[in-house]
Amino acid sequence: MEMEGEVDWTHYLRRPLFVCGRQAVDHDERWLFYQPVSRIYRGKYPGQSPAWVQNAADAGIAWLEMRDYGDPLDLLGPFGNGFSLLPEMQNLLILADTEDDPGWFWKLLPLCEQALDRGGRVTFLIKTRNEASVAGLVPFLPVQVEVRTTLGSDQWLEQVESTVAWADQVCAGVPLESYGALLTLVRTARFRVDRNFAQVLVNADLLCGVGACLVCAVPTARGGLSRACVHGPVFDLTDLAE
Ligand code: FES
Repeated sequence: MEMEGEVDWTHYLRRPLFVCGRQAVDHDERWLFYQPVSRIYRGKYPGQSPAWVQNAADAGIAWLEMRDYGDPLDLLGPFGNGFSLLPEMQNLLILADTEDDPGWFWKLLPLCEQALDRGGRVTFLIKTRNEASVAGLVPFLPVQVEVRTTLGSDQWLEQVESTVAWADQVCAGVPLESYGALLTLVRTARFRVDRNFAQVLVNADLLCGVGACLVCAVPTARGGLSRACVHGPVFDLTDLAE
């Protein structure tokens, strides 16, 4: 019998989990999740790297990391809107600024299989600080995917401009501050921007997940705010940038 003093009654806040793949294990299938580190915690520990926060300070994530296959988890969702591939999409361009957040790679990864399953072609353009870090990620991509890496902003913008013209759709994980530049590049390359041609995954904190706490509010192109957990976290680029 367990005595009251031996029970750990700690409760952690809910964490957003992004499905980033599937894995076959002993005739069974596991879902792989990516767990982003919340900017709430970065804010609490200025100057510390997200990895430090994740490993040492966030007991909830440490608890999650200790779970074993088969352990029960209390999950809610899915919430909000994910990426939606256009029916006419043949050429998909995926943009991941891993310089801003390495997590973009994992959160965008499932799009590759979705597009390839529909007979589409995929180019995965990755912005990085050093090519060695990308080399460790490439094996996770299907072999049919064309991978391009860029170092620095100039190379990145150049590559985005040339590949956007080829694409039927763009799905991006890039920082909020770069939405305006991305939209300008799309307009320049294509003259007009159809709805849902360019979709962006917003890096918002997601706490309640149901539109109640407003932690996930992101600024819109019209000067208002939108809740990422209800109307995102994937938005049409034209809703957030002008
Ligand atoms: S996470 Fe609470 S309102 Fe969006």
